[in-house]
Amino acid sequence: MLIVGSGGREHAISIGLDRSNSVASIHIAPGNAGTAMVGTNHPVKSSDIDGLVGLASEIGADLVVIGPEGPLVEGIADRLRDISIPCFGPHSEGAMLEGSKMHAKNLMKQLRIPTAAVTRLDHDSDIEEFLVQNPPPWVVKRDVLAAGKGVVVTSEIDEAERFIYDSIEKDGFVIVEEFLDGEEASLLVIMDESGYVCLPPSQDHKRAWNGDRGPNTGGMGAYAPAPVVTPSVHSRVLKEIVEPMHHHLRNQSVPYRGVLYVGLMIDSDGRPSVVEFNVRFGDPETQVTIPLIESDLGEILLATAEGNISSLDPAFSTLSSATVVLASEGYPDFSKTGKEITGADVTIDEGLSRGYVHVAGAIIQGGKMVSSGGRVLSATGIAPSLSQAIDVAYQIIDSISLEGSHFRNDIGYRALPPKE
Ligand code: AMP
Ligand code: GLY
Repeated sequence: MLIVGSGGREHAISIGLDRSNSVASIHIAPGNAGTAMVGTNHPVKSSDIDGLVGLASEIGADLVVIGPEGPLVEGIADRLRDISIPCFGPHSEGAMLEGSKMHAKNLMKQLRIPTAAVTRLDHDSDIEEFLVQNPPPWVVKRDVLAAGKGVVVTSEIDEAERFIYDSIEKDGFVIVEEFLDGEEASLLVIMDESGYVCLPPSQDHKRAWNGDRGPNTGGMGAYAPAPVVTPSVHSRVLKEIVEPMHHHLRNQSVPYRGVLYVGLMIDSDGRPSVVEFNVRFGDPETQVTIPLIESDLGEILLATAEGNISSLDPAFSTLSSATVVLASEGYPDFSKTGKEITGADVTIDEGLSRGYVHVAGAIIQGGKMVSSGGRVLSATGIAPSLSQAIDVAYQIIDSISLEGSHFRNDIGYRALPPKE
């Protein structure tokens, strides 16, 4: 089995596959210091589509699981299908749900899926007039793949204006969305033309600093299940969003086979709207979701890649999970890398609670673990209650040292009762 990518998400997928009886061997391209402990890393970048397709053939991969969106948008699933290698991840047209926000918005409009209204601004638009007519906060998005960093949500007119002008300068146009109020959640839905399976809902923490303040990041921590997705919210999400999307995608000439990441905003009346679709597992949502799958992950991913998910009825754990991201100094503006990390091999195993590290931007150099990216690793706890899972995650984070690093110390706060 070949996994493409090099983040914490791919380490979590590797660990899930390692626990699967159906999986004989695990290869990762390019991988990181964590995946190297679970399988064989190959030095092929996730942007090198020819190299990855060649590697999959060379090692006789029976399944290729794509972590990031880039290679999907570039058509890796189409290329693998041409040589009859099953791929978990949609073809290039399906991947446009993430590759173009405008395309996703148009489809949601066509299918009457609830989402924020959108305006497209370009060189011909009167930006000052638009900002006067539409009250803050403004949600401004570049329509490019920007690893979670192409979005600014602000009530500062100068910041909104600057980002709008900069984006139009770079891309020719920019999108401004209606602001949605509420609480966010992520629903990962594994789907193919035969059916779909929802994984336990999770919640990410996109802002860099405690209390959801500061710049947007790739995600600073997550937990699952997210209680904001109550049974009634869940059934609304299925009826109003997942069912229409599945119906549409299963009827395309080439069906969607992979995971649809539904980014949700849930308002105070329990009404869900789509913030975004992604065509891959979330990071760090995967680190808290995969540990809650009790069935054989290899079987689930292979069945989906072969259009056969409805033949399985996966079981989920009743435990909770939380993960806390440790980021490099400067992240998300810049990242100071090349620093030694110690303590990342700490694990916890006490009764039903367990904890361990998911490695992200770190490699092994001269026998040492060294930071190589913005999000370096995340400490994950799995336990009977969410507060216990969070405690386990922080116990591990506290035993790790990396000069200049930072992490949020309020992961899961929305789901916990207020402190006395
Ligand atoms: P996106 O890359 O589209 O997921 O946006 C990144 C983050 O910006 C989201 O996770 C939200 O926190 C915030 N955001 C995006 N769109 C909206 C919106 N329409 N209303 C409020 N917040 C939003
Ligand atoms: N955690 C946000 C994402 O994966 O897009």
